[in-house]
Order: sequence, then structure tokens, then C-alpha cells
Amino acid sequence: MSSDQRFFDFLKERIGLDVTSVGPAIIERAVRQRSTASRSQTADEYWHTLQGSRDEQQALIEAVIVPETWFFRYPESFATLAKLATKRLADINNMRALRILSLPCSTGEEPYSIAMALLDAGLKPHQFKVEGMDVSPLSVEKAKHALYGKNSFRGQDIAFRDRHFIVEDDGYRLGERVLEQVRLQVGNLLDPALLANEPPYDFVFCRNLLIYFDQTTQQQVFEVLKRLTHVEGVLFIGPAEGSLLGRFGMRSIGIPQSFAFSRQSVLAPEAVPAFLPTQLPARQPVRSVTPPPVRSRPFATVTPLPVVTKAANPDAATLLANIAALANEGKSAEARAACESYLRSHEPVAQVFYWLGLLSDVAGSALEAQGFYRKALYLEPQHPDALMHLAALLQSQGDTAGARRLQDRAARSERADSERKR
Ligand SMILES: C[S@@+](CC[C@H](N)C(=O)[O-])C[C@H]1O[C@@H](n2cnc3c(N)ncnc32)[C@H](O)[C@@H]1O
Repeated sequence: MSSDQRFFDFLKERIGLDVTSVGPAIIERAVRQRSTASRSQTADEYWHTLQGSRDEQQALIEAVIVPETWFFRYPESFATLAKLATKRLADINNMRALRILSLPCSTGEEPYSIAMALLDAGLKPHQFKVEGMDVSPLSVEKAKHALYGKNSFRGQDIAFRDRHFIVEDDGYRLGERVLEQVRLQVGNLLDPALLANEPPYDFVFCRNLLIYFDQTTQQQVFEVLKRLTHVEGVLFIGPAEGSLLGRFGMRSIGIPQSFAFSRQSVLAPEAVPAFLPTQLPARQPVRSVTPPPVRSRPFATVTPLPVVTKAANPDAATLLANIAALANEGKSAEARAACESYLRSHEPVAQVFYWLGLLSDVAGSALEAQGFYRKALYLEPQHPDALMHLAALLQSQGDTAGARRLQDRAARSERADSERKR
């Protein structure tokens, strides 16, 4: 039943999930799990059940989605939002409430963080409204329930928890003041009629979803995101997704670690990037790696980002060496910021995605790491470190066959390399 293309195609069509981005193991596991739960004996039988039942279709989607999220993920982006929101209210003379969309919102941590950030910045409840949307009804239900465990509070600064949550026996319950700012509903980013009659949003958060789409779906989704973002609005995306946006006519607003893009003019960048004071845990030592020569990416038409000028733009090899040095010193946040800065100013290269993968891996975000390693391999299919690290990750997730395929690929590439050198 595993590796049955029908299931890959079904998920691609319904939620945009691209098997080569996440790897077949995640989808195969979900299909196995649902097939067992629905007592199907064969792939054909499960396929038949799936075709005949909307509930089963939703259950398969629930089994395959990655709801990983936490409060104030990428904290700088919320600080940036608060500044931009204050400015935007002044620009529109406080004539209406700001409209903010979090899609996908998963279990609610992102839209609630938006509301907490704005209330903490002094905005009044009538000055903004947040909408959260996700394809998973289960996640949306959890978001509405608004009771959270420790895993949702991962940053260093969790003082907001004391301000906005009430301790209960089984977790932390979000307070009414924040809850009232956020409306939650089920919605699919791939739905052509999505929010069709809604006015555009001043701020749109679409983070950690685009990495699971192939290029065609990304393009389709960018058109939707552009429609949803006000012409003077700002779109916040995930760290791995920035390099994609330039190609679709959006520009970084130049604020480090905010991953914020505008449809319009570029704002002045901050002089000094604000780094997160996190350290690489000792669990996995980062190997010293000499940066390889920079290769161009295999995209035919690329619109270069106009944000970084030549004078402020050190050459690629220097930046790569700097990333390696920061990562090797255990300066995780600085290394990540350097990767982001690289991707804003240069064409993406495998080595940068490899570093992002490694940094995510070490920070315990296995799925994010997988996405980055796959991007590295997309750009450079034989990248030895990305192959080996992704293999190790798959192995740790029980995907022995997937791990073996990557190890074989690495070994073949090493053999070819040494034959070339002879
Ligand atoms: C990794 S979470 C991201 C949550 C949050 N934006 C963040 O960055 O922390 C990805 C979410 O995307 C949702 N999702 C997947 N495909 C979707 C689609 N086509 N439309 C809307 N949501 C989708 C999943 O249900 C999951 O909750």
C-alpha cells in the first residue's frame, strides 16, 4: 500500500501537500494509520473508502498535517507587527479597526500571539481584529478551546503567560480579553473562493505552510496571498520561505528576523539586527564545514531582491564562512539570522538551507529541519552533509528505507567524486 501515488495525488490536490517536500514516509504512515482505523485490508479497499467518505478524507488530512506551532514563534516578527500596526492606525487616521489574518493558524498560538502583542503594545480592543484559519477542524477546535500545555511556551521570554493566562489543573487557559480579539474558522488556502468577499487584510501571517508545496502550488497560493494582503499591507512568512517571495513581486521590508514582506515600497532596514539569545544545545555538536563554492540555483527567471545594495553586500563566500563560524561557535540565533540575511541578498544556495536545517535539527524542530534539508537537496541533489543529516533524521523517525536511499545516494556521490579526483 505504501508509495501508492493515488494517495500522494489526493493530498496534493486537496491541501497542496507535495510528497517530495515532506518525503513519502509521512504520507505513507498517515495512510497506514487511517487504513487500519477504517479496517481496510488492501490499498484498493482503503482508496474506495476514502473516495466514498468526506469524513475519511478529513481524517486522512488530519493524520498527515503538521500542526507544530508555539506562542511568539519568531518573536521579532511580533515586535515588528506592533510597530507597523501603530503606524498603520495613524496612516488610516484610526478610521477603522486593523484587519489581521493568520492562515494557517493551527491550534491558535499564532493568532493569539498577534492579539497579545498588540494589546501589550497599547492598542485598544476596538482597534484591531484577528482572524485565524486552518484546514484542520480539529486544530481549529483546539484553538477555540484555548487551553495550552507547556509545549506551546517555548521561548526564553514567557512573561506574557503571567499576563494573559490563568493556571488550571491541566494547563494554561487563555484570558477572555485576548480570546475576544480572535475569530477562528476552518478554511483551505487552496480554495479558489477563500475569503472572496472579504476586504483585504492589513497584515497577513502565512508561515510554515508554503515549504510543503511544490513551485506550481506556491505560485497559485502567492496570488491568493497577494489578493488577501492590502496594497499597503505586510505579509509575514516563515524563515525558509523568504527566498520565494521576491520572485512574486513582494519585497522584504528589511527588518531582521521578522520575515515580513510588503507589496509596496521598501522600508529602511534597522541598523543593528536584533538577535535571539539562544544557544545550540550540546546534544549535537556542529561539525566544522568549509563553505563550498557558490552555485547558482536552477530557476530560469529570478527577480533579484532590490533590498541590499552592492556596498552593503559582502561576497557570498564571506557570508557563508561567517554562517559556518557562527554555527560552529554555537551562536544559533546569529547563525540563523546570517542565513536569512544571505537569502535576502543572494540567490539561494544549498549550503544555506543545509545550515538552516542543522540549526532547526539541533533546536529540536525535526520537521522544519527536514524541510530545509530537502530544499538544500533540491538545489544540490548530492549535497553530502544534507544527505547524511536527512538520512539520520529519517532513520530516527523510523523511515529506514528512506534513510537507506539517501545513504546510498551519498555513497554513490562520494565514489563518483573520488573517481573524478583519481
Ligand atoms: C506548521 S503549522 C503552522 C502554524 C503557524 N502558522 C506557525 O507557523 O506556527 C502548518 C498548518 O498548516 C495547516 N494546513 C496545511 N495545509 C493547509 C491548507 N491547504 N490550507 C490551510 N491550512 C493548511 C495545517 O493544518 C497546520 O496546522
